[in-house]
Amino acid sequence: MFDDKTRCVVLVGVQWGDEGKGKITDVLAEQATLVARYQGGANAGHTVLVDEGEFILHLIPSGALYPDVRCILGNGVVIDPKTLIDEIEMLKSRGVDIEDRLGVSRRAHLVLPYHKQLDGAKEAAKGAGKIGTTKRGIGPAYRDKISRNGLRVCDLADQDYCWRVVREGAAAANAILDYYGVEERADSEAVMSSLTALTPRILALGTDSGAEIRDELARGGNVLLEGAQGSLLDVDHGTYPFVTSSTTTAGGAAAGVGIGPTLIDEVLGVVKAYTTRVGAGPFPTELEGDEADRLRNLGAEFGATTGRPRRPGWFDGVVVRHAAGVNGLTGLAVTKLDVLDSFDEVLLGVGYQLDGVATANFPERAADIERVRPVYEKEAGWKADTGSCRSWDELPEAARHYLRRIETVAEVPIRLVSVGSARSQIIRVG
Ligand code: IMP
Repeated sequence: MFDDKTRCVVLVGVQWGDEGKGKITDVLAEQATLVARYQGGANAGHTVLVDEGEFILHLIPSGALYPDVRCILGNGVVIDPKTLIDEIEMLKSRGVDIEDRLGVSRRAHLVLPYHKQLDGAKEAAKGAGKIGTTKRGIGPAYRDKISRNGLRVCDLADQDYCWRVVREGAAAANAILDYYGVEERADSEAVMSSLTALTPRILALGTDSGAEIRDELARGGNVLLEGAQGSLLDVDHGTYPFVTSSTTTAGGAAAGVGIGPTLIDEVLGVVKAYTTRVGAGPFPTELEGDEADRLRNLGAEFGATTGRPRRPGWFDGVVVRHAAGVNGLTGLAVTKLDVLDSFDEVLLGVGYQLDGVATANFPERAADIERVRPVYEKEAGWKADTGSCRSWDELPEAARHYLRRIETVAEVPIRLVSVGSARSQIIRVG
């Protein structure tokens, strides 16, 4: 992926998250010198399988598992200090020393305990209409950022300032908790005492993410900007309001680390060979009953962050075309092809009908996306093991045909195909 002309790559999820970005980041990180996250927080769950076993990372970029890669959390990431330190310790206990090669943007905002309380209370109050968030405090932390009430990493150096923000934040949170009829209250003393204990280690990680990345590129390094969640969870371009609270798409990568978009050379979209979604919201190609159970079990589709069963469905070409346009994808990495190995036939969504009328576009309103009926193409299954294939030519003919159809429907060339969770189970195309 990286060469003389391709030095800065953005990697984004093309569907509703869980596309296997952790695995693809890990594969690309072999050639990268710096990997940075640009949005989201500990709501992500990136699973990476290496010789030492399986790692699930929520905040630290998946590039961490290569010992020489510098890892950065950009200004667009919201950082839960306790989760960050716990993750550093977890990696250390498993032989991965990350602390001296991890940087955290001093401009990044912090997720505080009352953000998590608010996330939980709001979800509980919404009842059947809930978003199904990960309850990691993401929405409330971004709300404080945008409404200019947030606390940033750099602010930790000024305890008086922290006290002022936290006192005000806790008071505002308590008014909302009261409104939702929740008895639990935010406690500014408790927030400050846990924050103060973590402050020296968090401040020591502080950096200017944009300056570091620009210097790295000027030095001839290879930079990977790792997206979390997926394009359909983007706050602007996803299935609003059933989305996360950040710009997950490639446009957010430059702003989320502090570089100009002109420095980005390629945008690689990671897409599962079928579709899954976790949490509530419309999902046109969703399967039900036994078919759903089969795909969920074959793909081990259970959330890496919350353990929730994911909702499985067929590949949705309308979703992928929408994501391709919004992200300006230059290539696709198709993951989990092997999960479809035992199917007699595989369905591929190529369009939608809305109230009996064909629509080429992805509708804006969740209520309309709920009502669309997918138009499917039936593809023959390949009924053969692809997990051991290591080149395009080794793939069964029907699997190659299915992948070519994905390329045509998405109008984006396939660059990588993943056929299993191990690092070695990857096919480079073209
Ligand atoms: P939040 O990001 O926790 O606020 O959750 C908002 C929506 O995004 C919910 O539907 C979550 O299930 C979904 N979501 C957040 N992070 C991920 C992820 O890493 N993978 C898949 N879905 C996610």
